[in-house]
Amino acid sequence: MRHENIEVNSGLMIALIMVVISIGGLVEIVPLFYINETVEKVDGVRPYTPLELRGRDIYQREGCYLCHSQMVRPFRDEWLRYGHYSLAAESKYDHPFQWGSKRTGPDLARVGGKYSNQWHVQHLLKPTSVVPESIMPNYPWLLNNDLDYSDIADRMTALRRTGVPYSLTQAEYDANVKTFGKTVADQLDISQAQDNLLKQARTFNYDGLPNRVTEMEALVAYLQVLGTMVDFSKYDEGYFAEFR
Ligand code: HEC
Repeated sequence: MRHENIEVNSGLMIALIMVVISIGGLVEIVPLFYINETVEKVDGVRPYTPLELRGRDIYQREGCYLCHSQMVRPFRDEWLRYGHYSLAAESKYDHPFQWGSKRTGPDLARVGGKYSNQWHVQHLLKPTSVVPESIMPNYPWLLNNDLDYSDIADRMTALRRTGVPYSLTQAEYDANVKTFGKTVADQLDISQAQDNLLKQARTFNYDGLPNRVTEMEALVAYLQVLGTMVDFSKYDEGYFAEFR
């Protein structure tokens, strides 16, 4: 009977609908006011170097996220398979984040350091050559294509606008030295981007081709850094420590 009163009184109905909807809205919006407290501070998280950043671009271009997530959920089975669950701070410089929602292949959030560079090159060229039952596609062009890094400074400048601390000014550089130390701060200096990219490629030679910088080089550099920035042994106290 009371319900009928609401149904025939559109003014009351609208008011009550608003109340119900705003509860849902508040539940989603209010936590964002506390985002600074929500995002746990952890040491080690830094923006990508120019080479890693180009690798990330290629990861997106090739649609790797369609089959691979990059978020370890806080469940026991995930922890045992992949390692420490993902922290919000780990993707704070990822624009857009690569959490993904589909796992045709395994989660990649902790794949850095799990395999050698050669393994990655071989796997990306032809996954079945190292994992015979794999259904992952071949990406042979990654080793044929030279990496285009002519616009790396622009790409970093664009990300700087979204809040990633790549530095353009001396003051920004100095702030980065304070936050990340000099070695990392140098990598985040936009004016040095091309030199830094080439230097990292020459030093680590991710693609196994000493005289070339290929798209493979950038992608493997990116894969190898995933999940390696935070030293989790420092944060593993309590519940999860028992699994180590
Ligand atoms: C059609 C879905 C699909 C796409 C697209 C795909 N993968 Fe995979 N990937 C898989 C599957 C399935 C596996 C597990 C079998 C294997 O290791 O090949 C896998 C495994 C991997 C692994 C090994 C992970 C581990 O922990 O063993 C890496 C690294 C990887 N993929 C990277 C990539 C990258 C980089 C791309 C984009 C260039 C990509 N994948 C695109 C399906 C896919």
